[in-house]
Amino acid sequence: MQCTRKIEEDLYWIGSEKRNYSLFENILPIHGVSYNSYLLLDEKTVLLDTVDHSVSKQFLENLEYKLDGEKIDYLIVNHMEPDHSSVIEEVILRYPDVKIIGNMQTAKMLKQFFDFDVDSKMQIVKDGEILSTGKHNLKFVFAPMVHWPEVMFTYDETSKILFSADAFGTFGALNGNLFNDDLDFEKTYLNKARRYYANIVGKYGMQVQNALKKLEGTEINKICPLHGPIWRNNLSYILEKYEKWSKYEPEDNSVVIIYSSVYGNTENVANVLANKLSQKEIKNIKVYDASNTDVSILVSESFRCSNIAIISTTYNMEVFPKIAEYIDHIRRMNLQNRTISIIENATWAPGISKSIKDQISQMKNMKILEETLSIKSSIKYEQEEKLNKIVEDIATDLK
Ligand code: FEO
Repeated sequence: MQCTRKIEEDLYWIGSEKRNYSLFENILPIHGVSYNSYLLLDEKTVLLDTVDHSVSKQFLENLEYKLDGEKIDYLIVNHMEPDHSSVIEEVILRYPDVKIIGNMQTAKMLKQFFDFDVDSKMQIVKDGEILSTGKHNLKFVFAPMVHWPEVMFTYDETSKILFSADAFGTFGALNGNLFNDDLDFEKTYLNKARRYYANIVGKYGMQVQNALKKLEGTEINKICPLHGPIWRNNLSYILEKYEKWSKYEPEDNSVVIIYSSVYGNTENVANVLANKLSQKEIKNIKVYDASNTDVSILVSESFRCSNIAIISTTYNMEVFPKIAEYIDHIRRMNLQNRTISIIENATWAPGISKSIKDQISQMKNMKILEETLSIKSSIKYEQEEKLNKIVEDIATDLK
């Protein structure tokens, strides 16, 4: 059965979702995701993006139902990643008169992914160009690298709706509640939205900033992303999050403690540190065992917090692999402007603080607190003073 939603008089959500999808891009553990596609029934009919091939049956039924015998005039391709584009060829087979709207990069990728005659099907648009579809004027706002180089936003000047591609999206399937004000976003989606941002777009903060600047002064009533709820009120909430995330500014003045522990002795240090930090009135501290937490969560929490405490065991004379993986990921995601504290544990090999320091030092605007602690197998009471100094330094830095 069709499963669609009216957004405005002539605009419909015709997407679908995949609740049993556990590995986004075959790397990021998730519990489901939605694929949003939109249909504008103006004098010309306009399809805005498609969906992942795995949910094409539902999408194609939705499309056929809402078209009610009409043809599609335009298919706007805001993003070519296959979770939004893999059904394009099927759409063309079913609706052969459709004109594909995209930019030069879109055309190049269409040719890479598909074998149909792209040139005869495409209408190439320029940044800022406007397509009139009757009542609606659709403006194309290029947003390169707000995930991929071909990405563009489509801004409906008539209804003031921004179709934002991957931007402002989130992991997580929908639960019928399509609009942000139908649900408690902060409780239900904020962690998922941050993890999505940090791990999908996090690397491209400058490009996200460029896109946000292009939108400055534009009146926006709704944001329709390709994943997750549609924003129809309190837009400043998600815009401000993007402003912070893209500038690599922390959301919380708080500490995330990320540790590795083989036999529990290093975990003990993490627990003691968290306990002492909490007694300094520091809120929303989180402690993560790197071995039991997917690195994407560690990256996301590192985007949230101003301070990071890395506590690593030495493993075969090197940084514990899961901690090394974490550091590599925050480097890949271009994380900046954080304050780092380092504690090492080495039973028989030399400590690895220096190695961690060297890696962090290569990242932009990272401050490494001078006080470190080196334990041998387990922390001793005579080392508590040094640990207290680390706590003091973090508390001072947070002020
Ligand atoms: Fe949801 Fe970059 O694709």
